[in-house]
Parts: sequence; C-alpha cells; structure tokens
Amino acid sequence: MYDYKANIEQSRYDYNRSILLETSAERNPFDQFGIWLKEAEDEGIKDYNAFSLSTIGADGFPNARIVLLRKFDRSGLTFFTNYTSAKGQQLDHSEKVCLNFYWNTLERQVRIYGIARRVSEEESDAYFATRPRESQIAAWASMQSMEMRSREQLEEAVTHYTNQFAGKPVERPPFWGGYSIVPHYFEFWQGRLSRLHDRLIYRVNQDFEWYIYRLAP
Ligand SMILES: Cc1cc2nc3c(=O)[nH]c(=O)nc-3n(C[C@H](O)[C@H](O)[C@H](O)COP(=O)(O)O)c2cc1C
Repeated sequence: MYDYKANIEQSRYDYNRSILLETSAERNPFDQFGIWLKEAEDEGIKDYNAFSLSTIGADGFPNARIVLLRKFDRSGLTFFTNYTSAKGQQLDHSEKVCLNFYWNTLERQVRIYGIARRVSEEESDAYFATRPRESQIAAWASMQSMEMRSREQLEEAVTHYTNQFAGKPVERPPFWGGYSIVPHYFEFWQGRLSRLHDRLIYRVNQDFEWYIYRLAP
C-alpha cells in the first residue's frame, strides 16, 4: 500500500540542476543524446545506459522492460537480447518501439520512437565474444521469457552448457543477438523550477532534416 501523504516532501521538491533551451541545444538529436549520455556516465549513475524498451504485444498491449544500451551512433541505438523472448516475439510482430531513459539525479529523461531491426550476425558475434564466459553460458542456458519448472532447471542447464563448451570458446547461440533502433523522434526533458520543465522535440521533415520544437511541460 502506498499513499502520497507518506511523501508530501516529494511534491515540495523542485528540479533545478540544469536548463535546456533551443538556443543552446545541439541541432542534431544524436549529438544532444551523446552529451546527455556522457553526463549521466560522468555523474556516476549506475546503469546510466539502461532504458525502458516498450514493444507492442500481439494483443495490442504495450510491454515495457529495462535493457542496456550497448552501442549508439547516427545509424541507431543497439541492445542485445534473446530473439525468442517475449520482446523478441513482439518485435517480430511489430518493429515499432518506444525507449525511455531516466537519469534521476540529473533530473532528465529522453523519450525516443523508432524502428527496431536485427543487427548483422557478424555484429552479434563480435559483441557476444566480448561477454564474460558466465554470461555466454547463461545466454545458452536461459530460454528467456519461457515458463520454468524450478530454479534447479536453470542451474542444470548451466551445468549442461558448461560441460558442452569445456575447453573451447562459447559460440553465440543462434537465438541471441542485437537489435538496432533507428529513431525518428527524440524528446529531451529537463526538470525545472515550479514544474515549468523544458521539453524539446526533434523530428525529421520531408527533406530528412531534423527540426526542433517545444512542448508544454
Ligand atoms: C538494469 C537492467 C538491465 C537489463 N539489461 C538487459 C539487456 O540488455 N538485455 C535483456 O535481454 N534483458 C535485460 N534485462 C532484463 C529485462 O528487463 C527483462 O527482464 C528480460 O529481457 C525479459 O524480458 P521479456 O520477457 O519482455 O522479453 C535487464 C534488466 C535490468 C533491470
């Protein structure tokens, strides 16, 4: 049970770490995102690269979970997962996604809409090869999002794959890899005093140029 009365202090708390104005924001949202991501890292935020990934289920329900951003440049934002997981199946059904990054102490969030596509096998191989061996084994052992009998079932699968790959490199499971999200909408939210926050939107016009406008907080 929870009630706002237990946390009246929160309603009095004001956001005042920074500001976000059209005059100083980067013209390109990837540049602006890169600056904010770096500042979140420098702030020492644990899992500063974590974001909420929303997909659309076959039943029409939105479905959100946290994943980690592993790479980003102007071609897209990349994360890695199990392709047969719930999110993988939902992405097979609809490639439309919404991302949300939240950096608490910086009083910032970023919302992104985009299209998710699988990265190349080579790119998934290259990233998988950098993973700790335990994580590589876990990728084989976990049928992500499938119902399990028990915790023991998972641990038995880990033992099975540890033996199978003993003395050799763990190859990437064919059902595991990356998605790259190509964004067409960015929203940068900066908390301000008295709930008068800054919200700058970047969208693409007919000439494929980014333009910026402001939303009411
Ligand atoms: C901080 C954090 C980081 C995570 N990173 C990933 C990730 O990069 N990839 C992934 O598949 N799951 C990651 N997870 C687990 C997912 O949130 C989720 O439980 C899992 O992917 C299964 O989701 P699904 O059943 O909707 O497919 C992370 C969870 C947390 C809390």
